[in-house]
Amino acid sequence: MSGSGESGNWTYGDYLQLHELLDLQGDDRGISSDEMHFIIVHQTFELWFKQIIRELSETRDILAQVPVPEDQIPRAVDHLARTTEIFRLMASQWTVLETLTPQGFLAFRDGLGTASGFESFQMRQFESLLGLETEDRMFGMDPIKTFRKLAEKGGKDKDVLERLEAEQDNESLYDSLMRWMERTPIMGSIFESEGDESTVRDYVDSHLQGHLQMGNEALERMSGWEEEATTRMKERLDSAQESATSFLIPEGVVSRGRAGLLFIESYRELPLLTWPRKLIDAFVELEESMAKWRHDHARMVERIIGKRAGTGGTSGVDYLDATARYRIFKDLWEVRTILVKPQNRPDLINADFYGYTVDS
Ligand code: HEM
Repeated sequence: MSGSGESGNWTYGDYLQLHELLDLQGDDRGISSDEMHFIIVHQTFELWFKQIIRELSETRDILAQVPVPEDQIPRAVDHLARTTEIFRLMASQWTVLETLTPQGFLAFRDGLGTASGFESFQMRQFESLLGLETEDRMFGMDPIKTFRKLAEKGGKDKDVLERLEAEQDNESLYDSLMRWMERTPIMGSIFESEGDESTVRDYVDSHLQGHLQMGNEALERMSGWEEEATTRMKERLDSAQESATSFLIPEGVVSRGRAGLLFIESYRELPLLTWPRKLIDAFVELEESMAKWRHDHARMVERIIGKRAGTGGTSGVDYLDATARYRIFKDLWEVRTILVKPQNRPDLINADFYGYTVDS
């Protein structure tokens, strides 16, 4: 076995540093099997967190380039796909913890003091790397505050703080993604080329027209319903039209990033858009797997400690349920609400630009 491709004369135990690794579970404190399993599950998650940070950092390195070399997009998709699989695996690990009975946990819980997953700095690092905003967190909670306090003691906690602050100064993955999306050729028109602004505006306007038409068709289908129900539906559709407009044209100016995203989602079958749509799908899948992981954590916690407050001082399960509703890649979710059926989308201009002709 060897690392970095160099030949080495390792034993299995040395290569994996097993002697050191297997010395870190607290056997010397005479812990119960319940507590050892509690520690091992946490350590396993933290190891996976380490890998997640690595995968996401490499994705960010790819997407932060301007322009992003096209041949690197498949690699970004691979990094994201691996991260998603890790979240799925972690979500299924909660069931191991559920073998711990409520009372079995209480038997050693006091020994944790105020230690809590809330202090998982690796979790805060990957949230920040992905682009979770402070104002979108429960209570607008500053994720770094806890670590500022811990860093007062110096030592390793000070290094953690520096690492988290550095991560906050970096461009997030979400911001890189949206900057990349801004450069999507729309109806064959290249970003910042002559006439691009008006091509994109026309595209957005005609999509909105198609959206309106779909709403009107839905209303027509309701003819014969009670007036109150159709009035309510009409109000909902008006408000949906307004939201679609302000999503695409916030404050009166077309968002080219969102228009690019809409274009990719609307014309998914075009060969040139294959990797862009795979990349978007990979982000969506990742966020979905994270939300499910958070949700399953809350279910496990509810089962073991009910509605007790957490050792980290939050309300416990209610707090965790709220975090399962966090959405980082907001635009990727929102665009789904404003898509139209293929028959209502604007006619494609410059189809051959995308490696596809309608006649072929
Ligand atoms: C018996 C097992 C567990 C219980 C009862 C439990 C309970 C809780 C509670 C109540 C919180 C909210 C913060 C607080 O006030 O403490 C929390 C947060 C957290 N826990 Fe657990 N947990 C358990 C196992 C785990 C495991 C194995 C991990 C894996 C690393 C983990 C990771 C986290 C993380 C990352 C947070 C922060 C969530 C956030 O702020 O978004 N927990 N946990």
